[in-house]
Amino acid sequence: MKLLVLHGPNLNLLGTRERAVYGNFTLAEIDTGLKKIAEELSCTITSLQSNSESQLIDAIHRAGAEKIDGILINPAALGHTSIALRDAILGVALPFVEVHLSNIYAREEFRHKTYLSDIAIGVITGFGANSYYLGLMALVKALAERKDATT
Ligand code: DQA
Repeated sequence: MKLLVLHGPNLNLLGTRERAVYGNFTLAEIDTGLKKIAEELSCTITSLQSNSESQLIDAIHRAGAEKIDGILINPAALGHTSIALRDAILGVALPFVEVHLSNIYAREEFRHKTYLSDIAIGVITGFGANSYYLGLMALVKALAERKDATT
């Protein structure tokens, strides 16, 4: 199984950014944790962080062309604002899980809605770095179940 992990804007600042909200770990540490889980689950992951909406959209288009099996995405603030990101994922029709480190429903009202959540397989929010790890496990399981259902 080949998966793409996307981290949206400002997540490169993890470790120094609003630590009371996002924790002390860095993005590199999250990626290392994800790689370890991916190995245990016999899948390969490619990870990309970008502060640019267009780079994230291009990565989603490439994932569609390369027939990647699924996407794990923390869209960060773009989740709340970007119809273009939603359309990109709809355009390649790839299954995905949306994750957030913080509990977006316990924060400002403008964070309660994302343009991805209704088209995601599921959303995991509020568990810090574990949101990513749980999201990866949930994605792999959901994809395996879908494969089983079609064979
Ligand atoms: C976030 C939540 C978003 O509201 C925020 O804009 C982020 C990070 C999270 O992981 O908790 O940048 O996606």
